[in-house]
Amino acid sequence: MNHFELREGVLHAEGVPLPWIAAEVGTPVYVYSQATLVRHARVFRDALSALDNPHIAFAVKSNPNLAVLKVLQREGYGADVVSGGELSRALAADMAPADIVFSGVGKTRDEMIYGLQTEIGQFNVESEEEGIELSAIAEAQGKIARCALRVNPDVDAGTHEKISTGKAENKFGVPIHRAGEIYAALAVLPGLEMRGIAVHIGSQLSSLVPLETAFGKVGALIADLRAQGQNVTHADLGGGLGVPYKADDVMPSPAEYGAMVARVTAGWNVALSFEPGRIIAGNAGVLLTRVIRVKRSSNASPFVVVDAAMNDLARPAMYGAWHDIDAVVPSGATSESHVVGPICETGDTFAMNRLMATLETGDLAVFRTAGAYGATMASSYNSRGFVAEVLVDGDRYAVVADRLPPADIMAAERVPAWLK
Ligand code: LLP
Repeated sequence: MNHFELREGVLHAEGVPLPWIAAEVGTPVYVYSQATLVRHARVFRDALSALDNPHIAFAVKSNPNLAVLKVLQREGYGADVVSGGELSRALAADMAPADIVFSGVGKTRDEMIYGLQTEIGQFNVESEEEGIELSAIAEAQGKIARCALRVNPDVDAGTHEKISTGKAENKFGVPIHRAGEIYAALAVLPGLEMRGIAVHIGSQLSSLVPLETAFGKVGALIADLRAQGQNVTHADLGGGLGVPYKADDVMPSPAEYGAMVARVTAGWNVALSFEPGRIIAGNAGVLLTRVIRVKRSSNASPFVVVDAAMNDLARPAMYGAWHDIDAVVPSGATSESHVVGPICETGDTFAMNRLMATLETGDLAVFRTAGAYGATMASSYNSRGFVAEVLVDGDRYAVVADRLPPADIMAAERVPAWLK
């Protein structure tokens, strides 16, 4: 459910006609719906209502825009961060440090210090080596790092290989069969308070089965750790719930997920936390674009060249991902088209031979379900600028990220004296 709907033949974001935003802000531009973000945040929280005070940390990587984070902070969400940059955003959005969890296989020394100094709630430690380093840094700072050990349960999440994180060959977490030993080794270190287990097996999951398998392994591990005399008070079950990118995609609902979690974790007797990203932000955003021209040079489908490109929305080029493409003012006509961006490589293709709304030069269109892993994955490839972002609330909207023009990016570059 989202708030991008046709009203009198014109696609709106909540109460705002998208052509208004295109006229004022230009294209390409990401448009987010605050009501949709709020709705998703509440649906996800409600789905976990059978649990005792679950902690929800929005996966900042999915949409780090400050305004988006602020909406979620106001909904009582914390943050799952994976870099110092994301941590600074979560803090700038007034998320309580205690509600911030720091994940990632490559936390640097400076990032660890930053997390300790700002008193974040938890580090999800991904290796024994990382735990040893974090303990030493914490000790030197006179702090204790609250930690969960991220385990790799060796479960196939059944998703795209590039976003699968819980198979033994993936870089994430420690092998679950070694977790008991590593947990014990870290638990005796002076700078750490080992308090739990974290797991995240992948993103855009279309089935709860691999999640349930992974959680079952975590439950068994918690029992083993306790039998060894270890302290286990927390479990972080990660994110990963898929969203429908196509009308006929069937995804597990948050309610089904919540019921499964309640069933599998009954008796764990831990504080549970979650790191949802896509399920909150995915359908809360579209990428608004304008057709530059339509190339009809052969008998095959025409190339509809839009002003958004793979540097603005990388998912199709990177994962072969599908995003629905809709006309903003549909004429009702449909035809088969290729939709491509202006970038000089063939990968800059959003759709091939797709039966969709017929688009003509100058028309506006949207890529749906672009609120997660959209703007955040943008680059300036082909010396294009960084795309702008807008947040809509009812019948008002605000630019929440300025377009960064190519000249500003070039301004950060220097020609050294010896070349002048
Ligand atoms: N927690 C951890 C430790 C993660 O690595 C991720 C996502 C999440 C939570 C949030 O997962 P979600 O609920 O959003 O599925 N760029 C890719 C997705 C990469 C996901 C990386 N990790 C894409 O566009 O599909």
